[in-house]
Order: sequence, then C-alpha cells, then structure tokens
Amino acid sequence: PLVSMKDMLEKAKANQYAVGQFNINNLEFTQAILQAAEEEKSPVILGVSEGAARYMGGFKLTVAIVEALMEEYNVTVPVAIHLDHGSSFDKCMQAINAGFTSVMIDASHDPLEENIALTKKVVDAAHAVGVSVEAELGRVGGQEDDLIVEDAEAAYAIPAECDRLVKETGVDCFAPALGSVHGPYKGEPNLGFDRMEEIDNLVGVPLVLHGGTGIPTKDIQKAISFGHAKINVNTENQIASSKAVRQVLEEKPELYDPRKYLGPARDAIKETVIGKMREFGSSGQA
Ligand code: G3H
Ligand code: ZN
Repeated sequence: PLVSMKDMLEKAKANQYAVGQFNINNLEFTQAILQAAEEEKSPVILGVSEGAARYMGGFKLTVAIVEALMEEYNVTVPVAIHLDHGSSFDKCMQAINAGFTSVMIDASHDPLEENIALTKKVVDAAHAVGVSVEAELGRVGGQEDDLIVEDAEAAYAIPAECDRLVKETGVDCFAPALGSVHGPYKGEPNLGFDRMEEIDNLVGVPLVLHGGTGIPTKDIQKAISFGHAKINVNTENQIASSKAVRQVLEEKPELYDPRKYLGPARDAIKETVIGKMREFGSSGQA
C-alpha cells in the first residue's frame, strides 16, 4: 500500500537498517523499483524530483502511474511516494494534493530562521493529512536536476542548528549535509562521522543520507549505525540503465525498437535496486 515514510523509517531506525529512496524518472524506473521491492519483500520510497515530475507529466500522472503499477503487481510491501527536494510550500502542497504520501522541503539554502519557518509551515499542513516531511540543513554538493551546489558552497550541517530545526518543526526525518554529494563522486566521499554521531544523539528522528551513489559499503553501514534510516539513490540507477542502453545500441546499431533497449535498461535498474536493498538491510523487512 501507499503510505507515509513515518512508520517505515521508525521501524528501520529501531532495527538498524535503512530504507532506500530510489528516484523515478519514467515508467521503466517505476516498474523496476516496485518489482524489486515486492520481490525483496522490502519497504521502498519512490523519490520524485520536481524535474522528474515535470518529465513524467506532472504530479497527478506520476501518482496515477505508481498506483496503477502497484495494483497490477499486487504490491504488498509499504511504498511511499515522496517529493524529493521540494523547492517551495506551493510545490509541496501540489504534490500532496496529487496524492504524494511524503514530501521533502529543501530550504537548506536559506538562513536557519527561514528554513525553520518554512519547514514548520509545510509540517503543519502535511501532518494534518497524514503526510510525512523531510527537511535538510547544510548543503549537499554536486548536481541533481535543477539543484546545483558548487564545491565551495557545500557545507556540513551544524549540530546545534540541526537540534533546533528538528525540535521546532516536528519533521519526521532529517537530512544533515555531512559531505555526501549528488551525482558521481570526484574522489573518495569524506563523510563527517563525528558530527553525524553528535547529530544523531541530539535529534532522535531518523536521519537521511542524500547522494547515496558511490558511497562505500563500510560508510553506509557506519551511517546506519549513526541513525540513518533512509538512503537516497538516483545516479547509480541512471548510470546502470544508460550503460545497458549504450551496450545494446553499440552491439546492434541498426536497432530501433525502444523495447529492445529500454527493457535491458529496466532489468539493470531492478538489479541495482535489489543490490542496494540487500546492502541497506531492508530486504525481508516488509
Ligand atoms: O535526492 C536524491 C539523492 O540524494 C540522489 O543522490 O544521485 O547521488 O544517488 P545520487
Ligand atoms: Zn538529494
């Protein structure tokens, strides 16, 4: 069933595993991720960026696609459909009105007071209709869709500020930027584990790791042990699927039937997602 993230993340945090947020970009991504979740008996979060929602035909059509596939596949595992990096109160409300069960309000570029005020406004409206909310502090580097943060701007979240934001807003989960990056890493990721531990002890709510692509398994495990119950992955599925498309088209340059290259792309996404669910420990938890 379509549910908010609240229960699935609290259960994950209590049992020391993480639920994957896998971003959807089109029908094939949605099919692959839902099939992987059902086969693995894993809870799952479908991340939808504003850009991806535009590409897929808007929030309503995106929800309709997810609901239709869930019915078609007889999905029994908990699934959340979550607005990723929501840019404004209005966008969050549009997503909620269209049937999203969860939203992120990303006011991490704003000064703390404004971030808190906007996040609180979203939390009040979302909680009134049973929708969960994620907020962010600090700045995750790299690029995801319309969101670009230059290296020099990428900043680690400050523990005391995190504590204030979580307590004053009542968010369900919280993403402190701690050195992870959207998109492929330019070197080794350098996650701030000392701060992570401090923030985990202060805030209490499940933590969210953005930029999950390219983080070594030992760091994933450490992040889970320091309160991370949600890990976001997008680029890794994009790389796996485009690699499959390239391979097919290079082998058969005369091929033109989209099913012949999008099918293998879908298989590659499913395989990648299954691998992540096992790595994050969410397999068998639904
Ligand atoms: O919000 C989405 C994620 O943080 C995706 O990050 O593309 O580096 O896996 P990624
Ligand atoms: Zn992100």
